[in-house]
Amino acid sequence: MTSDLVIDVRNVTKRFGGLVAVNNCSLAVRRGSVTGLIGPNGAGKSSLFNIVAGNIVPDDGQVIFDGTDVTGMKPHQLFGIGMLRTFQIAHEFSQMTALENLMMVPGDQPGEHLIDTWFRPRLVRSRETEVRKKALDVIDFLKLGHVRNELAGNLSGGQKKLLELGRTMMVDAKVVLLDEVAAGVNKTLLNDLAANIERMNRELGYTFFVIEHDMDLIGRLCDPVIVMAQGEKIAEGPMADIRANPAIVEAYFGTPVEAA
Ligand SMILES: Nc1ncnc2c1ncn2[C@@H]1O[C@H](COP(=O)(O)OP(=O)(O)O)[C@@H](O)[C@H]1O
Ligand SMILES: [Mg+2]
Repeated sequence: MTSDLVIDVRNVTKRFGGLVAVNNCSLAVRRGSVTGLIGPNGAGKSSLFNIVAGNIVPDDGQVIFDGTDVTGMKPHQLFGIGMLRTFQIAHEFSQMTALENLMMVPGDQPGEHLIDTWFRPRLVRSRETEVRKKALDVIDFLKLGHVRNELAGNLSGGQKKLLELGRTMMVDAKVVLLDEVAAGVNKTLLNDLAANIERMNRELGYTFFVIEHDMDLIGRLCDPVIVMAQGEKIAEGPMADIRANPAIVEAYFGTPVEAA
Protein backbone atom coordinates (compact mmCIF):
# COMPACT_ATOMS: atom_id res chain seq x y z
CA MET A 1 0.00 0.00 0.00
CA THR A 2 1.37 3.39 -0.84
CA SER A 3 0.35 6.37 1.17
CA ASP A 4 0.55 10.05 0.38
CA LEU A 5 2.56 10.37 3.58
CA VAL A 6 6.10 9.03 3.65
CA ILE A 7 6.55 9.81 7.33
CA ASP A 8 3.61 9.98 9.73
CA VAL A 9 4.54 10.71 13.34
CA ARG A 10 1.60 10.01 15.64
CA ASN A 11 1.41 11.30 19.20
CA VAL A 12 5.06 10.71 19.92
CA THR A 13 6.49 11.45 23.36
CA LYS A 14 10.11 11.19 24.48
CA ARG A 15 11.30 11.95 27.99
CA PHE A 16 14.86 12.27 29.21
CA GLY A 17 14.54 11.82 32.94
CA GLY A 18 12.08 14.49 34.03
CA LEU A 19 12.45 16.47 30.83
CA VAL A 20 9.88 16.05 28.07
CA ALA A 21 11.86 16.57 24.85
CA VAL A 22 9.01 15.56 22.50
CA ASN A 23 5.51 16.04 23.84
CA ASN A 24 2.64 14.13 22.22
CA CYS A 25 3.85 15.39 18.87
CA SER A 26 2.14 14.58 15.57
CA LEU A 27 3.45 15.65 12.19
CA ALA A 28 3.81 14.26 8.70
CA VAL A 29 5.96 14.48 5.60
CA ARG A 30 4.14 14.28 2.28
CA ARG A 31 5.63 12.23 -0.55
CA GLY A 32 7.48 14.43 -3.02
CA SER A 33 7.80 17.37 -0.64
CA VAL A 34 10.79 19.13 0.83
CA THR A 35 9.47 19.58 4.36
CA GLY A 36 11.33 21.86 6.78
CA LEU A 37 11.50 21.58 10.55
CA ILE A 38 12.39 24.72 12.49
CA GLY A 39 12.13 25.95 16.04
CA PRO A 40 14.19 27.41 18.84
CA ASN A 41 17.08 25.56 20.44
CA GLY A 42 15.82 22.78 22.66
CA ALA A 43 12.47 22.57 20.83
CA GLY A 44 12.94 18.84 20.28
CA LYS A 45 13.81 18.84 16.57
CA SER A 46 16.86 16.60 16.80
CA SER A 47 15.09 14.27 19.22
CA LEU A 48 12.22 13.96 16.78
CA PHE A 49 14.66 13.21 13.93
CA ASN A 50 16.41 10.64 16.08
CA ILE A 51 13.08 8.97 16.76
CA VAL A 52 12.12 8.97 13.07
CA ALA A 53 15.52 7.56 12.04
CA GLY A 54 15.47 4.89 14.76
CA ASN A 55 18.34 6.29 16.82
CA ILE A 56 16.12 6.66 19.87
CA VAL A 57 12.93 4.84 20.79
CA PRO A 58 9.93 6.96 21.83
CA ASP A 59 8.20 6.40 25.18
CA ASP A 60 4.86 6.70 23.48
CA GLY A 61 3.32 7.05 20.03
CA GLN A 62 4.11 5.63 16.60
CA VAL A 63 6.22 6.36 13.59
CA ILE A 64 4.58 5.21 10.37
CA PHE A 65 6.92 5.00 7.41
CA ASP A 66 5.35 4.57 3.99
CA GLY A 67 2.27 2.99 5.54
CA THR A 68 4.14 0.65 7.90
CA ASP A 69 4.57 1.03 11.65
CA VAL A 70 8.34 1.19 12.14
CA THR A 71 8.37 2.33 15.77
CA GLY A 72 11.40 0.86 17.50
CA MET A 73 13.14 -0.31 14.32
CA LYS A 74 16.92 0.11 14.22
CA PRO A 75 18.60 2.69 11.95
CA HIS A 76 20.14 0.04 9.66
CA GLN A 77 16.75 -1.63 9.22
CA LEU A 78 15.21 1.72 8.33
CA PHE A 79 18.10 2.45 6.01
CA GLY A 80 17.38 -0.87 4.29
CA ILE A 81 13.80 0.17 3.54
CA GLY A 82 14.67 3.61 2.25
CA MET A 83 14.82 5.99 5.23
CA LEU A 84 18.16 7.71 4.75
CA ARG A 85 20.02 10.18 6.84
CA THR A 86 23.16 11.96 5.74
CA PHE A 87 26.25 11.70 7.87
CA GLN A 88 29.58 13.38 7.70
CA ILE A 89 32.08 11.40 5.66
CA ALA A 90 33.60 9.21 8.35
CA HIS A 91 37.32 9.47 9.00
CA GLU A 92 38.07 6.07 7.51
CA PHE A 93 36.53 7.12 4.21
CA SER A 94 38.65 10.22 3.84
CA GLN A 95 41.50 8.16 2.36
CA MET A 96 39.23 6.88 -0.41
CA THR A 97 38.39 8.81 -3.56
CA ALA A 98 35.06 10.53 -4.06
CA LEU A 99 34.04 7.81 -6.50
CA GLU A 100 35.08 5.00 -4.13
CA ASN A 101 33.10 6.63 -1.34
CA LEU A 102 29.96 6.38 -3.43
CA MET A 103 30.74 2.81 -4.48
CA MET A 104 31.00 1.79 -0.82
CA VAL A 105 27.43 2.74 -0.02
CA PRO A 106 25.19 -0.12 -1.16
CA GLY A 107 24.91 -2.38 1.86
CA ASP A 108 25.01 -5.82 0.31
CA GLN A 109 27.39 -5.86 -2.58
CA PRO A 110 27.84 -9.51 -3.49
CA GLY A 111 31.62 -9.02 -3.37
CA GLU A 112 31.35 -8.65 0.38
CA HIS A 113 30.10 -12.18 0.81
CA LEU A 114 32.96 -14.62 0.59
CA ILE A 115 30.81 -17.43 -0.71
CA ASP A 116 29.66 -15.34 -3.64
CA THR A 117 33.21 -14.30 -4.43
CA TRP A 118 34.24 -17.94 -4.66
CA PHE A 119 31.37 -19.30 -6.59
CA ARG A 120 30.01 -16.42 -8.55
CA PRO A 121 32.87 -14.21 -9.67
CA ARG A 122 30.98 -13.12 -12.74
CA LEU A 123 28.06 -11.86 -10.68
CA VAL A 124 30.45 -9.89 -8.48
CA ARG A 125 32.10 -8.29 -11.47
CA SER A 126 28.86 -7.33 -13.18
CA ARG A 127 27.47 -5.95 -9.92
CA GLU A 128 30.62 -3.92 -9.42
CA THR A 129 30.31 -2.52 -12.92
CA GLU A 130 26.72 -1.62 -12.15
CA VAL A 131 27.62 0.11 -8.88
CA ARG A 132 30.46 1.97 -10.58
CA LYS A 133 28.16 3.14 -13.36
CA LYS A 134 25.63 4.33 -10.81
CA ALA A 135 28.36 6.15 -8.87
CA LEU A 136 29.53 7.86 -12.05
CA ASP A 137 25.95 8.94 -12.77
CA VAL A 138 25.69 10.44 -9.28
CA ILE A 139 29.05 12.21 -9.69
CA ASP A 140 27.80 13.56 -12.98
CA PHE A 141 24.47 14.71 -11.54
CA LEU A 142 26.25 16.59 -8.75
CA LYS A 143 28.85 17.99 -11.18
CA LEU A 144 31.74 16.51 -9.20
CA GLY A 145 33.38 14.90 -12.21
CA HIS A 146 36.53 17.00 -11.88
CA VAL A 147 37.18 15.69 -8.35
CA ARG A 148 35.98 12.11 -8.68
CA ASN A 149 39.48 10.68 -8.19
CA GLU A 150 40.42 13.08 -5.37
CA LEU A 151 40.64 11.65 -1.87
CA ALA A 152 37.48 12.58 0.01
CA GLY A 153 39.64 14.05 2.76
CA ASN A 154 41.01 16.61 0.28
CA LEU A 155 37.63 17.88 -0.90
CA SER A 156 36.37 21.31 0.12
CA GLY A 157 33.65 21.58 2.78
CA GLY A 158 30.98 22.12 0.16
CA GLN A 159 32.18 19.24 -2.01
CA LYS A 160 32.07 16.95 1.01
CA LYS A 161 28.47 17.98 1.63
CA LEU A 162 27.63 17.19 -1.98
CA LEU A 163 29.32 13.81 -1.60
CA GLU A 164 27.25 13.12 1.52
CA LEU A 165 24.16 13.96 -0.49
CA GLY A 166 25.44 11.75 -3.28
CA ARG A 167 25.72 8.79 -0.94
CA THR A 168 21.97 8.93 -0.42
CA MET A 169 21.52 8.66 -4.19
CA MET A 170 23.32 5.31 -4.32
CA VAL A 171 20.40 3.51 -2.69
CA ASP A 172 16.68 3.79 -3.27
CA ALA A 173 15.71 6.45 -0.79
CA LYS A 174 12.05 7.06 -0.02
CA VAL A 175 12.98 9.99 2.16
CA VAL A 176 16.24 11.74 2.99
CA LEU A 177 16.65 13.33 6.41
CA LEU A 178 19.01 16.32 6.50
CA ASP A 179 20.02 17.59 9.94
CA GLU A 180 21.71 20.99 9.65
CA VAL A 181 23.49 20.04 6.49
CA ALA A 182 24.35 23.70 5.83
CA ALA A 183 26.25 24.22 9.08
CA GLY A 184 29.69 25.61 8.33
CA VAL A 185 29.12 25.90 4.59
CA ASN A 186 29.65 29.32 2.99
CA LYS A 187 26.91 31.08 1.00
CA THR A 188 28.14 30.15 -2.47
CA LEU A 189 28.45 26.48 -1.62
CA LEU A 190 25.14 26.66 0.20
CA ASN A 191 23.50 27.80 -3.02
CA ASP A 192 25.11 24.89 -4.79
CA LEU A 193 23.88 22.46 -2.18
CA ALA A 194 20.39 23.95 -2.25
CA ALA A 195 20.29 23.76 -6.04
CA ASN A 196 21.19 20.08 -5.90
CA ILE A 197 18.55 19.33 -3.28
CA GLU A 198 16.02 21.12 -5.52
CA ARG A 199 17.12 19.12 -8.56
CA MET A 200 16.98 15.83 -6.66
CA ASN A 201 13.46 16.74 -5.58
CA ARG A 202 12.14 18.03 -8.89
CA GLU A 203 14.00 15.90 -11.41
CA LEU A 204 14.39 12.66 -9.47
CA GLY A 205 11.38 12.82 -7.15
CA TYR A 206 13.25 12.66 -3.86
CA THR A 207 11.40 13.56 -0.66
CA PHE A 208 13.36 15.51 1.95
CA PHE A 209 12.84 16.23 5.64
CA VAL A 210 15.14 19.05 6.64
CA ILE A 211 16.21 20.57 9.98
CA GLU A 212 18.00 23.81 9.32
CA HIS A 213 18.95 26.97 11.16
CA ASP A 214 19.52 28.95 7.98
CA MET A 215 16.08 30.51 7.46
CA ASP A 216 16.91 31.69 3.94
CA LEU A 217 17.69 28.15 2.96
CA ILE A 218 14.50 26.88 4.60
CA GLY A 219 12.50 29.58 2.84
CA ARG A 220 14.02 28.73 -0.50
CA LEU A 221 13.77 24.95 -0.29
CA CYS A 222 10.93 23.96 1.98
CA ASP A 223 7.19 23.80 1.61
CA PRO A 224 5.67 23.17 4.03
CA VAL A 225 7.65 24.33 7.03
CA ILE A 226 6.78 22.80 10.39
CA VAL A 227 7.48 24.82 13.54
CA MET A 228 8.26 23.00 16.78
CA ALA A 229 8.46 24.53 20.24
CA GLN A 230 8.64 22.81 23.60
CA GLY A 231 8.35 19.39 22.04
CA GLU A 232 5.20 20.11 20.07
CA LYS A 233 4.24 21.15 16.57
CA ILE A 234 2.88 24.67 16.86
CA ALA A 235 2.46 25.62 13.21
CA GLU A 236 2.77 24.37 9.66
CA GLY A 237 2.61 26.14 6.31
CA PRO A 238 4.58 27.96 3.65
CA MET A 239 7.54 29.92 5.05
CA ALA A 240 5.93 33.22 4.03
CA ASP A 241 2.92 32.46 6.26
CA ILE A 242 5.13 31.40 9.17
CA ARG A 243 7.14 34.61 8.89
CA ALA A 244 3.97 36.68 8.67
CA ASN A 245 2.54 35.19 11.86
CA PRO A 246 3.56 37.55 14.67
CA ALA A 247 2.34 35.19 17.37
CA ILE A 248 4.78 32.50 16.24
CA VAL A 249 7.64 34.89 15.70
CA GLU A 250 7.20 36.67 19.01
CA ALA A 251 6.29 33.80 21.25
CA TYR A 252 8.72 31.22 20.02
CA PHE A 253 11.64 33.02 18.47
CA GLY A 254 11.70 36.24 20.44
CA THR A 255 13.29 37.85 17.40
CA PRO A 256 12.18 37.96 13.76
CA VAL A 257 12.46 34.51 12.21
CA GLU A 258 14.96 35.83 9.67
CA ALA A 259 17.44 36.42 12.46
CA ALA A 260 16.66 33.34 14.56
N1 LIG B 1 20.22 12.40 25.10
C1 LIG B 1 19.65 13.36 25.84
N2 LIG B 1 19.66 13.28 27.19
C2 LIG B 1 19.06 14.24 27.94
N3 LIG B 1 18.44 15.31 27.44
C3 LIG B 1 18.40 15.45 26.11
C4 LIG B 1 19.00 14.49 25.24
N4 LIG B 1 18.79 14.89 23.96
C5 LIG B 1 18.11 16.04 24.02
N5 LIG B 1 17.87 16.38 25.31
C6 LIG B 1 17.10 17.56 25.76
O1 LIG B 1 15.86 17.53 25.09
C7 LIG B 1 15.47 18.83 24.69
C8 LIG B 1 15.29 18.87 23.19
O2 LIG B 1 16.58 18.78 22.58
P1 LIG B 1 16.78 18.65 21.03
O3 LIG B 1 15.90 17.56 20.52
O4 LIG B 1 18.23 18.51 20.77
O5 LIG B 1 16.24 20.05 20.50
P2 LIG B 1 16.64 20.88 19.20
O6 LIG B 1 17.27 19.97 18.22
O7 LIG B 1 15.34 21.46 18.72
O8 LIG B 1 17.58 21.96 19.66
C9 LIG B 1 16.55 19.77 25.21
O9 LIG B 1 16.14 20.29 26.45
C10 LIG B 1 17.76 18.87 25.36
O10 LIG B 1 18.61 19.34 26.36
MG1 LIG C 1 19.11 20.02 17.19
